[in-house]
Parts: sequence; C-alpha cells; structure tokens
Amino acid sequence: MEYEEPKFFHVMQYAAAADGDVIDMVSGNPDWEPPAALREALREYADLPPADFQYPPSDGLRELREAIAERRGVDPDRVVVTNGTGEANYLAMARALDRGAGDEALLMDPVYPYYPGKTHLLGGEPTLVPTARDGGLDVDAVREAASEDTALIVLNTPNNPTGAVYDLDAVREVVGLAEAVDAVVVVDEVYDRFDLAGSFESALTLDSDRVIVTSGFSKSMAITGLRVGYGVFPEAHVGDAKTRHMLVNVTGARPSQYAVYHALAETEPDYYAQSRELLADRVDAFTDALDAAGAEYSRPEGAFYVLARFEGFPGTMANVKRLVDEAGVAGMPGEAFGTARDEWIRFALVTPRATEAAERLADYFADGAPETPADPR
Ligand SMILES: Cc1ncc(COP(=O)(O)O)c(C=O)c1O
Repeated sequence: MEYEEPKFFHVMQYAAAADGDVIDMVSGNPDWEPPAALREALREYADLPPADFQYPPSDGLRELREAIAERRGVDPDRVVVTNGTGEANYLAMARALDRGAGDEALLMDPVYPYYPGKTHLLGGEPTLVPTARDGGLDVDAVREAASEDTALIVLNTPNNPTGAVYDLDAVREVVGLAEAVDAVVVVDEVYDRFDLAGSFESALTLDSDRVIVTSGFSKSMAITGLRVGYGVFPEAHVGDAKTRHMLVNVTGARPSQYAVYHALAETEPDYYAQSRELLADRVDAFTDALDAAGAEYSRPEGAFYVLARFEGFPGTMANVKRLVDEAGVAGMPGEAFGTARDEWIRFALVTPRATEAAERLADYFADGAPETPADPR
C-alpha cells in the first residue's frame, strides 16, 4: 500500500525554501504563549526523581485522566490519553472499521486531510459527503450516503477548514442515522476551546454509546509539539482502544502529560478567553483586508482558519506556490481538503502578521487574478 504524505508538509517545505520573506499561514501551529503553569511544570519536571522518568500507565497518568473526565462529565475509565488528537482519531477510526460492520467511512467535504489518509491506512473506503454552503452539517446528504456498508462517520466541530460549528441537533440526527446502519460516529473536538461564536456544544452531551469524542491540548494550550490528546470511548470500545494504543505506543510521554495536568488544574478561564479574543481580532483584520482584495471568504464561527476565494485563481497547489513566490503569503490549497472547496485557499490565523498577509493579497489581486503560468508546476 502507498501512504499519502499530507500535502501541507509539501507547502511548508516550499515556503521555507522560498527566497523572499514569506508569511506562513499554512499549518495550525499556534504562535501564542502556552499557559504559564505549563512552562512552570516542565521546569519542575527536570528535578523530579528517576521514577518520574519511567513509563506512565499506558492509558495515561491517572490524575490527568480524572481531570479530563471531570471537565467532560464522564467516567475516567472511558478516557484514554493519546499522542495527540491524531492518535485518538486513529484509535477511534480503527475500532469503528475493525468491527466487521462494513468498510465505508463517511467524511464531510471539505475534509481534514488526515481522515481520508487514515481511512486508507486502515483498509477502509472513504466517501466524501457534501456539507452546506456555510460548512454546516447536511443531514440529508449523510442520510443519502449512509448504507449497510457504512462503519464510520467522522465529524469535526469546530471545523477545520471551514470554521463551522455544528448544530447539536444535526449531530444528534447523524448519530440516529449511524444507529440505523450500525456505524460509529467519531467527533473530533480538538478546537472546542476556539468557539468564537459561543455556540459549540460537545457531542458528549448526547450520551450515546455510538459516539467517540476525540480532543487534545495542542491547540487549546498552544502546544502542538507536546503531543497530548485523548479519546472518550463508550464502554464497548474503550478496551480495544487501550490495547491498540499500548501495542502501537507502549504509552505516551510522561513529562508532557504531567505538564498538561498542571496546566489544566492551574490555568484560569481567562487564558482561553484571551486566545479567543486574539483570534477574533485577527479574523476581523484579515477579513477586512480580504474585503479590500475583493475576495469571497468564510468567517469562522470556531477554530482558526479562513477560507478565501480569489476570482480566476483556484486553490491548486500550483497557485498556492505562486502566492508564496509572488505575493509572499503561504496558505493551503483548497484541493487538499477534498472536492468541495477546490476553488479556495485556506489561511491559518496563527501569525501576528495576518493583517499584513491580507494586505499583500489585496495588492497582489489589485488588478484581478494574474494570468495562469504556462508551466503550472
Ligand atoms: C481537525 C483536526 N484534528 C486533529 C488535529 C491534530 O491534533 P493533535 O496535534 O492534537 O494531534 C488537527 C491539527 O491540525 C486538526 O485540525
């Protein structure tokens, strides 16, 4: 089997090798401070006795699992601490596809590219299901796509790349459809703290034994490098997830879990509110400048991405490279996110230079789209 390398590595490498000054809006690496308590805990960790440098329990430090369970209102036994949300998604998707309930995974289009990649890796078949124009869940489209072969439905809210926050009633309906065809619904809530419009409700409130919720601290604590995530599994699936996690990883990294535990316990809600405010300001500034560029765009209700469409300049890899070279702005091609937004380019608002980037785009498109190069690389 050939594994697909996610396209954003390619864009990041291209942008890093470019000659001029490039504003990097490719990946979702926050540029703001992690919680002060997290830095403090990491410092402390260096002086702990040798026992603290050994394997933690495979399913995660007990106190961290309890803290997660308390915040999420679930039994700690249902929580598995993973190497990021990425691994939690892998465990959840693997379980759904492993049950002998079919091979098909319904993924919402536009799609976070790791979902189709993981589906293939696990021997499943991805089917892209259109979403509404604003990125919201289209329950009728899910109904139409669901069949006896559907084993898995993956949802992501707040959504990367559209910024949509799914309506809980729509999620409930999808869970009902999943029940009818014996599918498991995985809801990736890694952006739950970036609920810019204040409308997010976790799928855990549905209290369904069909639902696996995944999340992590990469985004909420600005620590994509520390690799701490988790899955909340229904009783029937948690044992399988723990075993797979153990066989693949042995366990996760103890210092990271220790630091996240302390940060969870000692960080005031204000920290998360400040990150949200910072992003909301960036959304305003970036979209104002996109207005000036005459671009169409999505205003995110959550997460930290803006999709923009420039007339006559589709979101291909070739055009994204052109923007790197000629405008000094690096985004992600819409064609990397399935088929629904291949005219669009995604910009991650994880740079203090977001306004400057939008001004560069406005200048670049001032006289309409440049002509397509003869060699589209
Ligand atoms: C929708 C979604 N899920 C999962 C991840 C990966 O998160 P983690 O760093 O916690 O593995 C990302 C990262 O961008 C994401 O956008």
